Amino acid sequence: MAKKGRVFSGIRPTGRAHLGNYLGAIQNYVALQDEYECIYCIVDLHALTTVEDTINLRQNTYEMALDLLAAGIRPEETILFVQSHVPQVTELHTILSMVTPLGKLTDLPTFKEKVRQNPNNVNYGLVGYPVLMSADIALYKTDVVPVGIDQAPHLEFARETVRSFNYRYNTNVLKEAAMKTTEVPKVLGIDGKEKMSKSLDNHIEIAATPEETLQRVMMMVTDPQRIRRQDPGNPDVCNVFSLHKIFTPKEDVEMINVECRRAGIGCVDCKKRFAANLNKALEPFRTRRAELASQPDRVMAILEDGARRARAIAEETMKEVRAAVQLP
Ligand code: TRP
Repeated sequence: MAKKGRVFSGIRPTGRAHLGNYLGAIQNYVALQDEYECIYCIVDLHALTTVEDTINLRQNTYEMALDLLAAGIRPEETILFVQSHVPQVTELHTILSMVTPLGKLTDLPTFKEKVRQNPNNVNYGLVGYPVLMSADIALYKTDVVPVGIDQAPHLEFARETVRSFNYRYNTNVLKEAAMKTTEVPKVLGIDGKEKMSKSLDNHIEIAATPEETLQRVMMMVTDPQRIRRQDPGNPDVCNVFSLHKIFTPKEDVEMINVECRRAGIGCVDCKKRFAANLNKALEPFRTRRAELASQPDRVMAILEDGARRARAIAEETMKEVRAAVQLP
C-alpha cells in the first residue's frame, strides 16, 4: 500500500513506559505504521541534557525498546533506533546551531521550565536541546511529527530552523515537517492532580505485574469530596473514572457512573474493577514483552538493524547538507 509520507518521532529513554506514555504516545506510534513510513528514535543524547548520572541510561533505553516492540512497533517495516547510533545527527546539530539565534532558544517556555526545575544544571546542551531535536527531524526529511501538545514550541522552532537553513544557504534540501498532535486527554497520575510522570512517582508502569498494578491502582486518589463509603461521589472529577472510560466495557462504565453518584459502589470496589480491566487489556502486551525480554540479543539486533537503516538515510541527507553549506 502506498504510504502517506514519513513520520518521525523521538521518545526519551525514561525506562519502563507508564500508562501516560502508552496512551499519549506509544499507541499512536503503533497506529501510524498503517498509514505512514515510520521512524522512531529513542533519544539518549537528549536524555544527557538532564540526566547527570548515566548509570541507568543503557537499561532505560533497552526497557523503552522492549515496551515499544511489545506494544506493536513492527521492526521489519518501521525503523526503531537509538539516537546516538546515528552520529550524523550531531553534525547536523552543529550546522543548524549556526543559523539559530541564541535568544530564541533562551526565550522558549520549555527551556525556562527546565531552568526552573533544575537551576544548577543549565548546561550548553540544554539550551541547544531544540536544535538537536530539529536535527533529528530534518535529518530524515520528515513529513509529519506526532507529539504531545507540550512539544508544540519545539516543533515550531524546528520548522523555523529549517527555513533559516534553507534561506541562509539558498537551498531546499531540508524539509519543514508538519506537527500532528495526539488527541489524547492528559493522563493524570495516581495523585489525581499532576500529569502522570515517573519523576513524580505517580505513575503506573504498563509492564508491571497484575499484583503491582492492583497495588498502584488502590493508591489512586478519587473524588476528594467523597470521604466515607456512604458519601455519594462525583465521577466527573475522579481520575479512576476517567480511566474506566478507556479500559472498561461501556455498560460497566455507565453502571459505575450511576452507582458512584448514589453511593451504590464504593471506591475500593470501583478501583478493583478498574485494575482487573486494566490488567486484562495489558495482558497481551505483557506476554509479548516477556517473550522479547527473554531474547535480549534479538532486541539488540533489531536496534542495530534500525540504526543501520537510519544511518543510510541520514548520510544521504548530510551529503546534500555539506554540499549546500559548501563545506570543503
Ligand atoms: N523532545 C521530545 C520529548 O521530550 C523528544 C524528541 C527528541 C522528539 N527529538 C524528537 C520528538 C524529534 C519528536 C521529534 O518528548
